[in-house]
Amino acid sequence: MRNKILVTGGAGFIGSNFVLDWMPLERESIVNLDKLTYAGNLQNLALLEGDHRHIFVRGDIGDTDLVAKLLAEHQPRAIVNFAAESHVDRSIHGPAEFIETNIVGIFILLEATRAYWAGLNEDSKKQFRFLHVSTDEVYGSLSPTDPAFTETKQYEPNSPYSASKAASDHLVRAYHHTYGLPVLTTNCSNNYGPYHFPEKLIPLVIHNALAGKPLPIYGDGQQVRDWLYVKDHAAAIRRVLEVGMVGETYNIGGWNEKPNLDVVHTLCAILDELSPRADGKSYAEQVTYVTDRPGHDRRYAIDATKISRDLGWKPAESFETGIRKTVQWYLDNQEWVKNITSGAYKDWVTKQYQGA
Ligand code: NAD
Ligand code: TYD
Repeated sequence: MRNKILVTGGAGFIGSNFVLDWMPLERESIVNLDKLTYAGNLQNLALLEGDHRHIFVRGDIGDTDLVAKLLAEHQPRAIVNFAAESHVDRSIHGPAEFIETNIVGIFILLEATRAYWAGLNEDSKKQFRFLHVSTDEVYGSLSPTDPAFTETKQYEPNSPYSASKAASDHLVRAYHHTYGLPVLTTNCSNNYGPYHFPEKLIPLVIHNALAGKPLPIYGDGQQVRDWLYVKDHAAAIRRVLEVGMVGETYNIGGWNEKPNLDVVHTLCAILDELSPRADGKSYAEQVTYVTDRPGHDRRYAIDATKISRDLGWKPAESFETGIRKTVQWYLDNQEWVKNITSGAYKDWVTKQYQGA
C-alpha cells in the first residue's frame, strides 16, 4: 500500500473541510472521488490548486469499474466515505437518489473495497481501514427528557434520508462481521461551518438574511439539533481513523443542543453586529413561520462520551465561537455564495419554499 487515502464525497461540505484540514497536517496524499452533484463544488477545494498531493477524480461510488481501477492504481491504505445524498427535505421530495447513492452506491463501494482488500498482503490487510461517515439521524427522534443517543441506541430512522443512511451503516457493519473488512463507523450530529451549502438551516438563514429574504422556520421552531463545528468533526474523523477500534462505531457531537429558533436568533444578533441592516432594524424581523417538514424529528442529541473517553477527542469550538467564525466566513466569502446560489439552487428554493 502507498501513502495515500481515498476520500469519497470530498467536494461536499464536510468532505472538503476534511480534505483541506488533512493536507497541512498529514503526510499522506488524498485521492478525492466525487460525483459533483449539486452539493459538490470544486471551488471548495480551490485552496489546493496545484497541490500534487490532492488528486481529484470526478466519478460515482456506484461505478464498479472506476472504483476498482482507482483502488488498483492508488493502493490506498484507507477509505473515508463521505459520499451521500444528505438533505432531508430533498429526500422527502425525491427519495430515489438517496436509495441509489446511500444504499446501492455504498454496496458497490464495499464490494470493490472487499475485492481490493482481499488481494493485499497480510500486513497491509491488517492496517487497512474503511471509515464510514454517518449521522445521528439514524437513531430517530428524542423527547425532551430522553437521554442523548449512545452507540447502543436502537436505530429508528424516520426520513428517507436517515433510512438510507441506516441501511448503509448496516451494510458496513455486515461487511465487518461477515468478511472481516476492517471498518469504522462514525455517527455525527448536525455540522455547521465554512462551505455549507445554503439549503441547510444555518447557511440558508445567513444567505437569506443578507439578501433581505424571509428566514423560514418550520413549524414552531422548537425542534432541537446538537450542533458541531465542521472542523471538530474533521478532527474526530482523523482521530477515529488513527486509533479507532476496528468494528466499532463512535458518536460525535458537540454537547450543543439548541432549538432552531434560538439558532436563528443567534445568527440574527451576530449579523446585526457584523453587517447591520441599512434601515437599522434587526434581521430577526425577517423570521417567517412556514409549514412544518413532514415527519419532522423533534430532537437529536449525541452522547459523545465514548470517543472522548476511549480516543481522547473533544471539540475545540463552543457553539458561540464556532457560529461567529461561520458568520464571518460567509461575510468574507460572498463570491462563493453567489456562485453556488445561481442556476439549479433557485429551482430548489422555489420548490421548497413556495409562498414563503
Ligand atoms: P454534502 O451533500 O455537502 O456532500 C456530499 C458530497 O458527496 C458531494 O460533494 C457530492 O457531489 C458527493 N456525492 C454524492 N453522491 C455521490 C456519488 N454517488 N458518488 C460520489 N460522490 C457523490 O454532504 P455533507 O453534509 O458534506 O455530508 C457528508 C457525509 O456526512 C454524508 O454521508 C452525511 O450523511 C454525513 N453527515 C452529515 C452531517 C451534516 O450535518 N451535514 C452530519 C452528520 C453526518
Ligand atoms: P437542516 O439544516 O436541514 O438539517 P437536519 O434536517 O438534517 O437536521 O435542518 C436543521 C433544522 O432546521 C431542522 O429541524 C429543520 C429546520 N429548518 C427550518 O426550520 N427551516 C429551514 O429552512 C431549514 C432548511 C431547516
